Amino acid sequence: MSSVRPGSIVVLDCGGQYAHLIGNRVRRLGAFSEIRIAETKAQELKGAAGIILSGGPQSVYEEGSPQPDRAIFGLGVPILGICYGHQWLAHALRGTVKPGKVKEYGSAVFHVLEPDSVLFQSTSKSSGVWMSHGDEVTVLPPGFRHIGKTETCFVAAMEDPLRKIFGVQFHLEVTHTSEGMTMLGNFVRLCKPAPWSMEGFSKRIGEQIKTEVGDRKVFMLVSGGVDSSVAFTLLNTVLGVDRVQGLLVDTGLMRKDEVKNIGVAFDHLGISNLHIEDASEEFFRNLEGIYDPEEKRKVIGQTFLDVQKRVSERMELRVEDGWMLGQGTIYPDTIETKGTKHADHIKTHHNRVAAIQAMIEKGLVIEPLKDLYKDEVRALGEELGLPSDFVWRHPFPGPGLGVRILCALAPSLPKEIDTLDLPHLVLPVQSVGVQGDGRTYRHAVALFAEKTSEVPDAFRASATTIPNAVRAFNRVLFCSSHASPPSLVFTPGYLTRERADLLREADAIVDEELRSAELYAVIWQFPVVLLPFGTKEGGQSIVLRPVESQEAMTANAAPLPPLVLRRVTERLLALPGIDMVFLDLTSKPPGTIEWE
Ligand code: XMP
Repeated sequence: MSSVRPGSIVVLDCGGQYAHLIGNRVRRLGAFSEIRIAETKAQELKGAAGIILSGGPQSVYEEGSPQPDRAIFGLGVPILGICYGHQWLAHALRGTVKPGKVKEYGSAVFHVLEPDSVLFQSTSKSSGVWMSHGDEVTVLPPGFRHIGKTETCFVAAMEDPLRKIFGVQFHLEVTHTSEGMTMLGNFVRLCKPAPWSMEGFSKRIGEQIKTEVGDRKVFMLVSGGVDSSVAFTLLNTVLGVDRVQGLLVDTGLMRKDEVKNIGVAFDHLGISNLHIEDASEEFFRNLEGIYDPEEKRKVIGQTFLDVQKRVSERMELRVEDGWMLGQGTIYPDTIETKGTKHADHIKTHHNRVAAIQAMIEKGLVIEPLKDLYKDEVRALGEELGLPSDFVWRHPFPGPGLGVRILCALAPSLPKEIDTLDLPHLVLPVQSVGVQGDGRTYRHAVALFAEKTSEVPDAFRASATTIPNAVRAFNRVLFCSSHASPPSLVFTPGYLTRERADLLREADAIVDEELRSAELYAVIWQFPVVLLPFGTKEGGQSIVLRPVESQEAMTANAAPLPPLVLRRVTERLLALPGIDMVFLDLTSKPPGTIEWE
């Protein structure tokens, strides 16, 4: 890795899932942030305005735990350690960290002990913070003073005012820490970083694109997602329609009217160079008789590559003829943090596979959004004139509805069915979950109550206790269509156009109801899933999976107001072929956001 950009605030990634969240928050405070691995040499960090050490799941005493270069203390820039970072600072600077017996996880009240600390400017004496730790700092390093505590954690904050080194045990980057942004803002200002704003980026990026592309032309695959659409619009705005060509492959697995809406959004901006290739027939043909989720993903990915290659050859978009490849890669796709590396769902990002990496090294790829976070991409999209509804859409997986249509040849039930006290039904399909470090492939259990649109509080609690207690289950659902368990009829099914069309309609209903209830912006993502069983021959079921999340690493089931749940359920049951509706109550972990 090269040296950091002068004046940036560098986040050293000590694991967990926090580095990008901190980096993003720093950007929102108007400073440029970069993520680097924890062990980055201090030499490479010269020029940084400040350093933040992120949280992480390990103990400073554990073998292999992140150990930043102690020469960072010689750089003379402000340093802030958060959670693991706080403990590492104490450990590295000759304080004491005591291994904790139990892990404290959750909200706490933080009391400021030294209100004159710069970290606490404009904050309250007491405020809510989010704790997640096992170990604890017990003795301050020489030169430090004790500036804050909680009921259960004495040294919840410390500082060396001379060297401008700070440590906080709580996560100030999460929204649960009510004054976290003010504290982070105080630190950022102290660093006197180079300013960062989207206006500044927009002004610079045009020149950068022109220099990088030179007299070549850019070919771009537009997926329909926000990132590639914004990148395509930006390239068109800077280079003009004659020097850009877009290709959108219609896989047949996109949402209702998605292809049409993309066309309309671009037409509005005078962008007429997007070729839409309807390859849905080919996708459904290749998916015939495929039931295994991973196999399905592979077939979708391979078909996509085949179509893209064939069409780009047909359109003569060759490197030899002066074409380079444009990609909508964004910052988190380029920097794999310890959190994303160990996360179950992210492997090498598809924009960074070997063949593309080789092209990048030859200077054949342009990625104009590679320094931006998602919210920045969205803001840029709006600035470029894309409709706000379009740029603020929920994340949608690459294989589209393909991972939301469960396929099975025969019903499956756990070998031993544990009986529960509540009225319930074990669903005859399995779904993916994540428990401990591994993925699980287990059954969901649906619970029933008399009032079908009001989820009893006890059911929400069961969503945590049941998967912990009963091995066979990794998800807990609430049935919003039936007050008691009906008998189920399983219908074998793979991925067909008919099923995709049915799910498209269901998904559109949910989308519409969510927007009209003004819940779209509150809910982070809302997969709608089709299951191959119902109460009649050929009948199918729908699972609603609304979640609250930050960056998808963990998630909570988002509550749906009873009226919304009732209305959505009624409209879904009115679709021909939909017999049952369920609301997924499971967090991630033990569930995942998607069902496959
Ligand atoms: P999970 O289901 O692992 O999902 O909790 C986390 C986030 O990743 C998205 N996701 C995918 N995105 N290709 C993608 O491009 C995939 O195969 C895929 N699987 C899951 C998911 O929608 C959620 O935002």
